[in-house]
Amino acid sequence: MIGNGLWALLNNPGELATLRADTSLVPTAVEEMLRFDGPIQLNNRRLLDPMTLGGSILPVGTPITIGIGAANHDASQFADPDRFNVARKPNRHLAFGQGDHVCVGMNVARMEGRIAFTRLLAKFPKIALAGEPERDRRVRFRGLRRLPVRVG
Ligand code: HEM
Repeated sequence: MIGNGLWALLNNPGELATLRADTSLVPTAVEEMLRFDGPIQLNNRRLLDPMTLGGSILPVGTPITIGIGAANHDASQFADPDRFNVARKPNRHLAFGQGDHVCVGMNVARMEGRIAFTRLLAKFPKIALAGEPERDRRVRFRGLRRLPVRVG
């Protein structure tokens, strides 16, 4: 989350400047990081009841793989979904899943994100890319193995 979020800020310097100018936006910025490029891209369910989806009837027991990243860029839910907007509100993203098995650690994760970005921006007035980032190639977990930056 922190790596993907920093990468999004570096790719959207206007949003980074907005956040620096008003750090009370850190909580909405963290939600936007989770929506825009969240660290978990797939979720799973098994149907307890039959369901019709896209004209097909899916029977009880069907395993479902849910594309969290796709849902989080759904234009019917999010205005201008491919725009990274640190002030986005409302932001009903699915980065932590939903329902009975929603992420147990979501409030810890949110708190970590808020602390990390508040401290990072306060400590370093300048943060710039200093090399090619390297993506982790897994599909379910989306993140960066390396994100070289120069701070000052
Ligand atoms: C940004 C960080 C995190 C993200 C994006 C994330 C995302 C998720 C997602 C998508 C699920 C599946 C929810 C569902 O099935 O609907 C999940 C489940 C879970 N997460 Fe997280 N998580 C994060 C951090 C954490 C942390 C820090 C903890 C523990 C301190 C944690 C503990 C759990 C547990 C125990 C479950 C299983 C819940 C259940 O099956 O009832 N997660 N998380």
